[in-house]
Amino acid sequence: MKVTVVDHPLIQHKLALLRDERTGSKDFRELMAEVSMLMAYEAMRDLELEEITVKTPVAYARAYTLSGKKLALVAVLRAGLVMVEGIVRLVPAAKVGHIGLYRDPESLAPVEYYAKLPQDIHERRVFLTDPMLATGGSAARALQILKDKGATSIKLMSILAAPEGIERVQREHPDVEIVTAAVDERLNEKGYIVPGLGDAGDRIYGTK
Ligand code: PRP
Ligand code: URA
Repeated sequence: MKVTVVDHPLIQHKLALLRDERTGSKDFRELMAEVSMLMAYEAMRDLELEEITVKTPVAYARAYTLSGKKLALVAVLRAGLVMVEGIVRLVPAAKVGHIGLYRDPESLAPVEYYAKLPQDIHERRVFLTDPMLATGGSAARALQILKDKGATSIKLMSILAAPEGIERVQREHPDVEIVTAAVDERLNEKGYIVPGLGDAGDRIYGTK
């Protein structure tokens, strides 16, 4: 499945600020939510519409409202949570799920510690948020958790992606479109995206 790079000037500008090591937690959090909201415009471009008629103060107008499957936003904790906070402002009726994963610092393999998903996830269009697609281990595991619960329509939204992570998700989940703001060069020996933006969770929450 394809990779969509959403490189709108507003996104590129905010991404530059996100990458800057001088950007503190408060701004980092806000920027990440804003970039996610902007990316959602593109990720949700193919949502179904139905035609309706509304009465304006002047005349009847043909108009269009969202129809089709309802939506679910699922955050990979911790850092994906801020992405959902941005996107849910656009689609407030969406249900929200959470998948808790962290990367083992030695093996870089994802360790699952939490999962709470809408019961009807199998009937919804799912947007999975994981801001850093590095080795792709966390995203691939989260996608498998969603599929095991019956989800069939899933897009992965990542603010930054490494070629290695894209390759892994495409290999293990070829049905899933990846939407990202940028594809970076590579991973370093510690599994960080280069040039990247550092540890997203730590920068959001001020932890280390
Ligand atoms: C980060 C990031 C992704 C994951 C990506 O989470 O938010 O979920 O790493 O790496 P991968 O593609 O190699 O799996 P982290 O494990 O640091 O947890 P945190 O969000 O709780 O800080
Ligand atoms: N997780 C992050 O937060 N940053 C990276 O560069 C890789 C994984």
